[in-house]
Amino acid sequence: MTDEAFFELHRAIPRQGPGDASDVLWALSVVGEPARVIDAGCGPGADTETLAEALPLAQIEAVDLTTHFIEEARARLECFGPRVNTREGDMRDITGPADLIWCAGSLYFLGLETALPLWRGALAPGGAIVFSEPVFLSSPPSAEVAAFWADYPGVGTEAELRRRIAGAGFATRATRVITGRAWLNYYLPLMARAARLRIGAGPDLAAVLDAAEAEFARWRAAPDHIAYLLCVVAPE
Ligand SMILES: C[S@@+](CC[C@H](N)C(=O)[O-])C[C@H]1O[C@@H](n2cnc3c(N)ncnc32)[C@H](O)[C@@H]1O
Repeated sequence: MTDEAFFELHRAIPRQGPGDASDVLWALSVVGEPARVIDAGCGPGADTETLAEALPLAQIEAVDLTTHFIEEARARLECFGPRVNTREGDMRDITGPADLIWCAGSLYFLGLETALPLWRGALAPGGAIVFSEPVFLSSPPSAEVAAFWADYPGVGTEAELRRRIAGAGFATRATRVITGRAWLNYYLPLMARAARLRIGAGPDLAAVLDAAEAEFARWRAAPDHIAYLLCVVAPE
């Protein structure tokens, strides 16, 4: 799978992972009205946009390592003017101070045990981190769920995730299971684009389309049980 073929499929879709505006609004109902927000691993900026709309007075920074995605985020977010800043860069380098670090579907690139202690110093007093991580809703998971997460080592139950969060020196303030519609928000535009690109696709692109369609088929086998857990955490 080449990067070029991967980005050919993944460009021009609204988001790069499961999520929904209602997830952002739920998290804000827990953390209040943060004045300084960082969207770490923002992708094309879907959640940044919701944050900017929901928090009209907040200063927001959206950070992503991938040029394609941050360019899409920049185009999408320029309507908010200077209070929403996009930055191509590594979320390891976040310095804050932030009242909220939002990280949807991106934390696993660093790992929870690395990211939470790293970002502790970037949080303003009273600040919180909200992130989503794969979770098993039953233990053991069904064969379908295990097959879906086969390439992601270390997926566990909510209780195990909470223990890892505590081990990193954070308290879990609230959690929300993300299944169903939030995943379709990601997959449906991706599959529509895959169908359009299929006509005339060369071998590299065809391999990327095959892999994406196979992943969607694995998800459709258990859409109510394949889940992310959205976690609101704060330093202990
Ligand atoms: C699964 S996507 C989720 C994107 C976005 N949060 C969303 O929900 O649409 C993961 C994102 O993390 C970004 N990423 C991975 N490692 C990163 C790093 N070290 N620093 C910043 N961004 C990173 C990728 O470029 C990608 O855009």
